[in-house]
Amino acid sequence: MNGGRKIRVAVVFGGKGPEHAISCLGGGNVLRVIDRDRYEVFPVGITREGAWLQVDDEPERLAITGGELPTVEAVAKPDAHVVPWARQGDAAVVASAPGHVPHIFGEVDVVLPVLHGPYGEDGTIQGLLELAGVPYVGAGVLASAVSMDKEYMKLIFQARGLPVAPHVVVRERDWPAAQAPADEQRAVAAQIEALGWPLFVKPARGGSSLGTSKASGPDELARAIALARQYDPKVLVEKAINAREIEVAVLEGLDGAAPETSLPGELRLDGGEEFYDFEAKYLDQSSGMLIPAPIPQTDIERIRAMAGAAFNAVSAESLARVDFFYTPDGEILVNEINTLPGMSPTSYFQKMWEASGMPFPQLIDRLLESALRRRPGLR
Ligand SMILES: Nc1ncnc2c1ncn2[C@@H]1O[C@H](COP(=O)(O)OP(=O)(O)O)[C@@H](O)[C@H]1O
Ligand SMILES: [Mg+2]
Repeated sequence: MNGGRKIRVAVVFGGKGPEHAISCLGGGNVLRVIDRDRYEVFPVGITREGAWLQVDDEPERLAITGGELPTVEAVAKPDAHVVPWARQGDAAVVASAPGHVPHIFGEVDVVLPVLHGPYGEDGTIQGLLELAGVPYVGAGVLASAVSMDKEYMKLIFQARGLPVAPHVVVRERDWPAAQAPADEQRAVAAQIEALGWPLFVKPARGGSSLGTSKASGPDELARAIALARQYDPKVLVEKAINAREIEVAVLEGLDGAAPETSLPGELRLDGGEEFYDFEAKYLDQSSGMLIPAPIPQTDIERIRAMAGAAFNAVSAESLARVDFFYTPDGEILVNEINTLPGMSPTSYFQKMWEASGMPFPQLIDRLLESALRRRPGLR
């Protein structure tokens, strides 16, 4: 309770990025489990065009039904816009006093963004909420932006002594469709060749494995780059690592304490997929996670320590999931950090915390509590 009333929470989901449906699944799951005795909940959906709307508080309609992925449009209250300038066709930013943008946030105590990818997990909404002076769950602007961009995320991890897979960043100018390669382009091609085959190709600011594919030779590489570019003009080409995939869920420590890490989980692919692709993540019932990961205790400790170090390296806050490659000879590489990890019913962030003794409703309490305690302004 907050001054004799319930804490008002805006749960924001959907969004302009390609992970719209995944975000809806997570938003629906949060609406389903959040403690209604403690919180007054305002569900807010961002449509694929970027309009912010009040949506029906009906979690069951934010699930996969008959193979159909959910959308904000399907649950939106008609014309219940909450951010006037985000309406389709209105490109201008409307001037507004601090605390009045967006106006629904003037009425809520805290925002819980269940958003993934660009325009959600990348510092943009975090910047909007900083300007509005509204507390929110999750990392701040810099940590969100850095963690969304696999180029800069990996640079920071390397600078902090966290090993990552060898990779090359391919920008538009490095790999034109039908032009004779200039020196710079030849240099990039040589760097890629030096990584050795096979390679993984992915959009730099992607997620949910969308646009990610494996390339075993130059022709496949060209196709893989074209696919990744459908999501992002900047692409990462990475050496394929033959390894098990281990993940750790992380929470910000309370009152300045070190980050807390969950038991690690190991991804299991039993549906015949070659890697952990979109299908394996969300649609294939046979993929799953073993918690705790069946690896030696010393490696469990190393991975948990690295998860905490990765969280600190980017100055994450509230929560994150850190994903690793664990090679047959015990080498541990950080693959990525997700500052707003999936929270859909099949997501592992909450499963790892459940297995570590913190059920999902309690986890939501913890996230909201730490957001409300956070000092406003520069931290
Ligand atoms: N270098 C790599 N070696 C082996 N598998 C990889 C590599 N990069 C990505 N993958 C596979 O692709 C999946 C998605 O890649 P990832 O970098 O985690 O992007 P996303 O942000 O979309 O999750 C990984 O979980 C893994 O299965
Ligand atoms: Mg991943």
